[in-house]
Amino acid sequence: MAITHYEALSASVKHLFKLDTPNSSYVIGIIDDEGFVTHVYYGDSIGDYHLEEIPRIDEMPFLPSNNNRDRCSFLDSCPMEYPTHGLGDFRQDCFKIETVNGNAGVSLTYKDYRIEKGKPDLPGLPATFGKEDEVSTLILICEDAVTGIEYQLNYSVFEDLDVITRNVRILNKGKEPLYLTRVYSACLDMDNEDYTALTLHGTWARERKITETKLNRTRLVVESVRGETSHQDNPFIAVKEATATDRYGRVYAMNFVYSGNFRITTQEDQFGQLRVTMGISDEDFKWKLEPGADFVSPEAVMVYSGEGTGKMTRTFHDLYRKHLIRSPYKDKKRPILINNWEATYFDFDTDKLISIAKEASRLGIEMLVMDDGWFGVRNDDNTSLGDWTVNENKLKGGLKYLVDEVNKLGMKFGIWFEPEMISPDSDLYRAHPDWAIAIPNRVPSRARNQYVLDLSREDVLEHTYESVAKVLRSANIEYVKWDMNRQLSDLGSALLPADRMGELYHRYVLGVYSLQERLLKEFPNLLLENCSGGGARFDPGMLYYSPQIWCSDDTDAIERLSIQEGTALVYPLSTMGAHVSDCPNHAVGRTTPFETRGHVALAGTFGYELDVTKIPEEDRNMIPEQVKMYHRYNDLVREGDYYRIASFRANGVYDCYGVVKKDKSEALFTYVQVVARVNYHSRRIFLQGLAPDKKYRIEGEDAVYTGEVLMKAGYRVKTMHGDYLSRLIHIMEV
Ligand code: GLA
Repeated sequence: MAITHYEALSASVKHLFKLDTPNSSYVIGIIDDEGFVTHVYYGDSIGDYHLEEIPRIDEMPFLPSNNNRDRCSFLDSCPMEYPTHGLGDFRQDCFKIETVNGNAGVSLTYKDYRIEKGKPDLPGLPATFGKEDEVSTLILICEDAVTGIEYQLNYSVFEDLDVITRNVRILNKGKEPLYLTRVYSACLDMDNEDYTALTLHGTWARERKITETKLNRTRLVVESVRGETSHQDNPFIAVKEATATDRYGRVYAMNFVYSGNFRITTQEDQFGQLRVTMGISDEDFKWKLEPGADFVSPEAVMVYSGEGTGKMTRTFHDLYRKHLIRSPYKDKKRPILINNWEATYFDFDTDKLISIAKEASRLGIEMLVMDDGWFGVRNDDNTSLGDWTVNENKLKGGLKYLVDEVNKLGMKFGIWFEPEMISPDSDLYRAHPDWAIAIPNRVPSRARNQYVLDLSREDVLEHTYESVAKVLRSANIEYVKWDMNRQLSDLGSALLPADRMGELYHRYVLGVYSLQERLLKEFPNLLLENCSGGGARFDPGMLYYSPQIWCSDDTDAIERLSIQEGTALVYPLSTMGAHVSDCPNHAVGRTTPFETRGHVALAGTFGYELDVTKIPEEDRNMIPEQVKMYHRYNDLVREGDYYRIASFRANGVYDCYGVVKKDKSEALFTYVQVVARVNYHSRRIFLQGLAPDKKYRIEGEDAVYTGEVLMKAGYRVKTMHGDYLSRLIHIMEV
């Protein structure tokens, strides 16, 4: 059993709960007569010998039961599992309320516990899952006697991975309504160490660049208040010992299974202890909880690695591939697609799409995706979102005709939607202006000339669902790219009462989830790819619904190196939407070899985003080879263990990463020489993840190496002549 309960280990330590994963232990202590829920230990696995000695309860400020005059000092320094607001813990808390009298202070006292096999679903929310023999759950039941709040602090412990997930359920068992003004999902109080944070930041076309920050007394806040997780910030943090590297040292990571506003904070307190919190952002958040009602927070995933960030990454990848993504496609090759966005933008018709499909199918491409511009009168990005009727001026003969023609070529067909949006210039807006998120008497700010639909409303949800489903029912459509091209502003709903307006952000996200859930129920074999102006909603919440997410609107192979490095720090390669596009690249104007573009896209889902009838002949002729390459390596890329060997982001010269088959019989490393330099020796790269005693041959070479030699003495990559050149290093056991 991964969860052990110890009772009355000492006069002050009333209960201890020890949560064990294969290589980590997490210990919670219920201390003192009042039942404070304290954090005792997190890190490499430890035994159960004298755990009660770990808490610092025999030193100042001592426990309130024997030193209540210094209660505030106790609350302000004791490591807590779920710190609450306003009673003397002056650090960042996780939970804050507003009572009908306007008070905010609230306590949390242990009452009872339950241990269950398996892991309960979170109603309406995405969450990791596991069978009864794969995960078990500790539920700490706590209360605030004054308001009647019952808390359920949930910890699910995985048997096969160093993962503990957390969330809370809040029940109003009092007689008065309450307003929740802050409900975070997790807190991690660390002992005094020297820590550095890794976080992921960016903007449109530059998503998820890895940022390192030395942590100190200054509070670090990683947050989105944009209504989605955003290009700018990702709901991820890794706190590592300052000396930890990719391969060594302790790393504590958290990722939020949620696709809306979030907030992560870190701060060293006055004694050098670090507190990390994660949850829904409390900016404009206020949730009314009537007596008898409950609120369930989204899930925070905690990963521990005692072997650097590389192991952390592989744990996240395994967790998400096995315990989060549900799609029937998750363990399968995805059809190689060709998307017409960068090929045609809005300028296409049936003939154009069929000509692309004909040529693409001849070359071995397996699915045509029709992107933006097929509906309403949308010939640019100024109109028609919400009017999901086929534009028969462009698609002569209708959608079904086009899909059938594409199917006749032996290709699947996919389509683009942006279901959450409404153009001011649309029939939908003219009929229902109140369906857009807006503040009364204010003209909402436009972004890409569009507004956001109020998905907190049942009528809007129903209409939106039917608009999408009707199209999908009308033809053999096997893939949907679900886009979301603006962030939320001007928060206001025409239906929500004043004292529930602070629920809009979260209700919006719940609305998105309910739409996607319903879609997958009706179309269980649909391949869904989420997208948000590129990769603004690349988060674990979305992965619960779609096995892949479009990584970025920047398709340049060199820019993609760091975007994909940051993405793959947390998210599996099988989820990264990556395409070969035409050059000069539309985003940066750079020209890279077609071969390099293929090698870089191979690290993701793989596909094309170009007009295959127009690209240079020599590029087109390489496509059948690339198709073969994809079929040959995709199982390995999708299911293997990922190792980062070198980072162009960090060294400015070259990039190298690899995937190793779980049984270590095969590996594929990708090496990109971004910048050529004159008069240097060949480069030695130190491979990782191989079995030291296995013998390997590198494809195209005769020599046989042991894994030990390739990892310790390294493998020499010959210098290539020119910039932006790449090489695949395919390694097979002999
Ligand atoms: C977003 C997506 C692109 C494309 C356009 C269409 O920017 O990320 O891939 O679909 O919208 O408008």
